[in-house]
Amino acid sequence: MTPVFLEVKNISKSFASNAVLRDICFDIREGEVHALIGENGAGKSTLIKIIGGIYQPDSGEINIDGQVVHCANPIQAMERGVSIVHQELSLAQNLSVAENIFMRREIINKIGFIKWDVIRQRSREIFDQIGIEINPSDLVGTLSVGMQQVVEIAKAISLKARVILMDEPTSSLSEKEIDRLFTLIRELKKQKVSIVYVSHKISEVMEISDRVSVLRDGRLVFTKDARETSVQDIISAMVGREINNIYPARSKGVGEVVLQCKGLTRYGYFRDIDFEAHSGEILGFYGLIGAGRSEIARAVVGADKLTSGEIFIDGQKTVIKNPEEALKKGIAYLTEDRKQMGLFLDFSVAKNITSSTPSKFTNESGFIKSHNIAAVAEDVVRALTIKTDNLDTDVVFLSGGNQQKVLLGKWILPKPRVLIVDEPTRGVDVGAKALIHQKLRGLADEGMALVVISSEMPEIMGLSDRLAIFREGRLTEVLDNSKGQVSQNDIMERAVK
Ligand SMILES: Nc1ncnc2c1ncn2[C@@H]1O[C@H](COP(=O)(O)OP(=O)(O)OP(=O)(O)O)[C@@H](O)[C@H]1O
Ligand SMILES: [Mg+2]
Repeated sequence: MTPVFLEVKNISKSFASNAVLRDICFDIREGEVHALIGENGAGKSTLIKIIGGIYQPDSGEINIDGQVVHCANPIQAMERGVSIVHQELSLAQNLSVAENIFMRREIINKIGFIKWDVIRQRSREIFDQIGIEINPSDLVGTLSVGMQQVVEIAKAISLKARVILMDEPTSSLSEKEIDRLFTLIRELKKQKVSIVYVSHKISEVMEISDRVSVLRDGRLVFTKDARETSVQDIISAMVGREINNIYPARSKGVGEVVLQCKGLTRYGYFRDIDFEAHSGEILGFYGLIGAGRSEIARAVVGADKLTSGEIFIDGQKTVIKNPEEALKKGIAYLTEDRKQMGLFLDFSVAKNITSSTPSKFTNESGFIKSHNIAAVAEDVVRALTIKTDNLDTDVVFLSGGNQQKVLLGKWILPKPRVLIVDEPTRGVDVGAKALIHQKLRGLADEGMALVVISSEMPEIMGLSDRLAIFREGRLTEVLDNSKGQVSQNDIMERAVK
């Protein structure tokens, strides 16, 4: 029997009156991958943060190697071999890779300067060890989310972590990057490093885990050997009922062209993109990460400059200078990056939901009509089943999946004619995912034109009426999927060279 490295004993935690974890018992064996699964708001990130010394439990204890330990902060946890790779990445964007890895324990020479050559060299050694090429001098902000994740893992390795807590490590990774992460995890296992792995992608979890624990409403439902459970078993433990991920029916009728794009080009990102979005229809954008889909969306709403190309709304040629103007002209873009661009984390749920429609909530003299805000926000919270104590809670205190729902609510509210959603179900649990799919189809049925960008093949196939496939900044083909006739192969052939 593999020895237990870390044991969580009867841990409970509340935030004000909200009991988030109740009497949790859970252990991590040496060199195992232990998955932690549960609905949005079930308490997964909170448990991870308690193990990692970020939060203190109200009661219960943590043992490492059979000894009770108290970690007052993440540094103390790291000293005992516990590192976290966060759900929302937390690296300093304007520092180099090497500085991030050796943050707060820079290697200093006699006169107090950082020994750059040493930290660069050590970073390089770690990347060699894990077989990934990253230049330690690069600024973290210039790396893809996937690569930033690798930097966080490199940091954990440099700290000689014995357990790495990964909170939704693959929610923004491409399939290739996921493969690479899995290879890395298998390598770490061989070195007896344990991994706690939080994810909503259950099939993925089954592939990589040795054991699976399910949390529901702050309680541990079960811990089982991965071989002794199944996707259905896990889902019913999570939600207490069966969910078959059945996609909504297709378009009831495609209307006129609302948005037409001709020859859109942004040097270095995408070239000669032609497409049109019809009222009543969901147009899917599929491509591997780096294919240019988000960049096109950003340029359409004026967040980035186009080198050339034309945009027509209702047949009228138009120029869009920035996202506010886009919204005025009826085009909204829900970004994939909720932390940097999507939400105001220090603002309340109500303010975030209504932030894209400010004029609706001010009277003639510009004062905010707060009772209207509350009423409208309440409706959105109910419609999207957003789990929050109340409407005044700051968004930063919501779980990741619930933040995603707030973001969706914010962009649905102004009722745009064209809604572009980028990875709309990122970090969202299976039940909530089905709800968001229904909601998107409902909007199309009401006459909105939807563009859905997704890297998840089943989602894009299940949802789209037509499917635009991108490869390296080019639109390779738009496929008719009005009867769900497009196959995985059809897509891959056009997405990969
Ligand atoms: N710092 C905090 N203050 C107040 N409430 C919090 C705080 N952190 C988390 N919560 C609440 O605790 C509950 C559990 O949140 P947690 O982030 O642990 O969920 P999760 O299982 O990670 O969900 P997701 O899958 O959406 O990431 C939620 O209701 C959340 O609003
Ligand atoms: Mg979470």
